[in-house]
Amino acid sequence: MGIKNNKIKIFCKQKRPLVCLTAYNKHMATIVDPFCDLVLVGDSLAMVLYGETNTNNISLQTMIRHGKSVARGCSKSIVIVDMPKGTYEASEKLALKNAKKILKETGCDGVKLEGGVKISHCIKLLVKNKIPVMAHIGLMPQQVKHPKDYRVKGRFLEEQELIISDLKAVEKAGAFSVVIEAVTEKLANKLTKLSKIKTIGIGASKKCDGQILVTEDLLGFFSKNAKFVKKYADINSYISKAVKKFKSDVIKRKFPSKKNIY
Ligand code: KIV
Repeated sequence: MGIKNNKIKIFCKQKRPLVCLTAYNKHMATIVDPFCDLVLVGDSLAMVLYGETNTNNISLQTMIRHGKSVARGCSKSIVIVDMPKGTYEASEKLALKNAKKILKETGCDGVKLEGGVKISHCIKLLVKNKIPVMAHIGLMPQQVKHPKDYRVKGRFLEEQELIISDLKAVEKAGAFSVVIEAVTEKLANKLTKLSKIKTIGIGASKKCDGQILVTEDLLGFFSKNAKFVKKYADINSYISKAVKKFKSDVIKRKFPSKKNIY
């Protein structure tokens, strides 16, 4: 594959399960970096930060701004930036131009593209140009047109065969790893067994080579989550408590105190 990036080489050789999380800015990146193998600047930021209903309307420039910020907060993990919808699918030339722009302007390690067979020609050209690529198969949020399309994939034989072809295509094209989103456990296990590259599951199987979640989901920012999310904290209640106390201090003229003024 000819990957030069040492962190990616180590990632590909790692024997224990790989720990992956999203971050959209330097502050969060600094917190998660010590615990992660890979930090993803996911286009999920369209929904998490910008309140969009899907990931389809985020620009390359926005991803670059956030990628730059995350790169400033990571020293240990690989940092991968999602290529947003519309910035790579039309042609491999477009994919290469935009992937180069992302890496040059952010200083991140690689890019993630959604799709299998259909975009494998793009992956091939990026890899040929020494750009590390993470693929994303199974449920592909950029292709969701209707909320009912957010459903588990691979229940039917025909769909299973398509997803297996996607895996083989991205692997052959030279991706160093692949995110497998929202597929049946049985299919995720099969994909991981078949795969020569690292499989990173989200709503897939504990047998994947690693797991990824949106950090805000695991922290408990949202009341409604997909089944595959496990909440490890209830950050909202901490924020509410702090803001309530601030309100009370302002109203009672307890803030600012002597310590907070010049
Ligand atoms: O956009 C994103 O955050 C992702 C992960 C959830 C895999 O693609």
